[in-house]
Amino acid sequence: TILVLDFGSQYSHLITRRLRELNVYSELLPCTAKVLELSWKPKGIILSGGPYAIYEKGAPTVDPAVFELDVPILGICYGLQAIAWHFAGNVVAGEKREYGHAKLDVRKHEGVAVHVDRLFSGLGSELEVWMSHGDKLSHLPQSFLTIATTFNAPFAGIAHETKPYFGIQFHPEVTHTPRGTELLRNFAVNICEARQHWTMDEFVGKEIARIRDLVGKKGQVIGAVSGGVDSTVAAKITHEAIGDRFHAVLVNNGLLRHNEVEEVQKTLTESLGIQLTVVDASQRFLDQLIGVVDPEQKRKIIGRNFIEVFQETAKKMEEEAKNSSKAGDIEWLLQGTLYPDVIESIAFRGPSQTIKTHHNVGGLPAVMGLKLIEPLRECFKDEVRELGMKLGIPENLVWRHPFPGPGLGVRVIGEVTESQLRIVRQADKIFLDAIENAGLYTSISQAFAAILGGVRAVGVVGDQRSYEQCIVLRAVVSKDFMTAEAYCFPMDFVRDVATTICNEVRGVSRVFYDATSKPPGTIELE
Ligand code: XMP
Repeated sequence: TILVLDFGSQYSHLITRRLRELNVYSELLPCTAKVLELSWKPKGIILSGGPYAIYEKGAPTVDPAVFELDVPILGICYGLQAIAWHFAGNVVAGEKREYGHAKLDVRKHEGVAVHVDRLFSGLGSELEVWMSHGDKLSHLPQSFLTIATTFNAPFAGIAHETKPYFGIQFHPEVTHTPRGTELLRNFAVNICEARQHWTMDEFVGKEIARIRDLVGKKGQVIGAVSGGVDSTVAAKITHEAIGDRFHAVLVNNGLLRHNEVEEVQKTLTESLGIQLTVVDASQRFLDQLIGVVDPEQKRKIIGRNFIEVFQETAKKMEEEAKNSSKAGDIEWLLQGTLYPDVIESIAFRGPSQTIKTHHNVGGLPAVMGLKLIEPLRECFKDEVRELGMKLGIPENLVWRHPFPGPGLGVRVIGEVTESQLRIVRQADKIFLDAIENAGLYTSISQAFAAILGGVRAVGVVGDQRSYEQCIVLRAVVSKDFMTAEAYCFPMDFVRDVATTICNEVRGVSRVFYDATSKPPGTIELE
């Protein structure tokens, strides 16, 4: 295992990701972690970048214990500065921030210090790299050598003369550094000698065995499913492990899309053979949403009701289980938590603002008093997709666009009513069908229709004046949904969809296309 210590960079989790691609297992921990108290010994340590200036009061520094472990260390960007700081190098504010592509000159060494060249081994003498930093090293720390330079950073790469300690100013973990993964391989595989045995098959087998072990011969597990890839893959793995002692629950909150309940039912029971209980709570949700227009309030109401409905269902199932002598109590809750969610909760960062209150089927709180099973807590989204394919989950589900926990509740701007839901469902279906038919579904990360409740526009239908509602179409491309760009359809595609929606959906007089990026927008409109 390679330990990645997070100093708060937005790229930290990518380091872990790249190592996994090399089949090297890695763990991300905050930079404040006590490395000597870990139950395992890492083969090597990577110190991530971070948004701080090391010479400022309160900036995080490397725990000196890191250097006591006697394993190779690689500092990236802020990590390099932290190593330099530890060895009393000098870090100064750069005259200007350096952000973007740079040409890196790799320096070769002869004689005694040739081990310092191992980081760039096989990568040639010139590399394209991605820089993102304000500060830089002004002097080499004692016992260090320069292994790479750029025009702006004379110490863009440094290495200790005798120990396997390296620092680089650029980011090898981002795709803008094309040969970055090879550099990470040099570090993890050649220098740290980490084993390359993290594979998906092995992972599934281990996870199934672990769940069987945890739950025992009689234990039962309950889990919410949404029809999305995460909860479905988690459900499938659990079902493989314990069969019908796993109970999947789909809460119909009345905010699902056209035919969604039927489709989830079909996939889970028919294709995957998983026992599914559908709870129709739509009226309860819609009643609670009457008169509510504030997006945060809507999210909270939907989230709270979801938890209540799920809890009530769990209780009922538990009673049923008690009456049948075959199985034990429901003691376990399945959650589809992914690695980025785990990282989100452990990452090192200062106070951050709540942009939106998120709710998802994986987000049931511990108040249920159930123990958690999280088979995907070590996986990234694309790994979950790969698992899905391996487990025989239908391909269209594996590649399905994300759908938010609060559902159409946040796609009806303003008050959520049955008639608004009808309109948005129909418009959404027309838009998505058109995308499918044009073969564009997998080129787009997420697409949907929303309705601008409370806004009406004038139109003309036949010879009549109309005064009806406005639909917004949104389609984005995004790698991680933290940032996104509007998808560029050919204009005639948008025009045809707009025409179909106005013709076929009663109550719509205008269709708009949302061209906003994230940031400054968000993907959902609320
Ligand atoms: P935003 O709108 O914040 O969305 O740019 C980013 C991604 O998250 C999805 N989303 C949610 N997913 N529960 C979820 O499970 C939520 O409450 C929620 N809100 C937004 C959104 O669809 C997009 O993929």
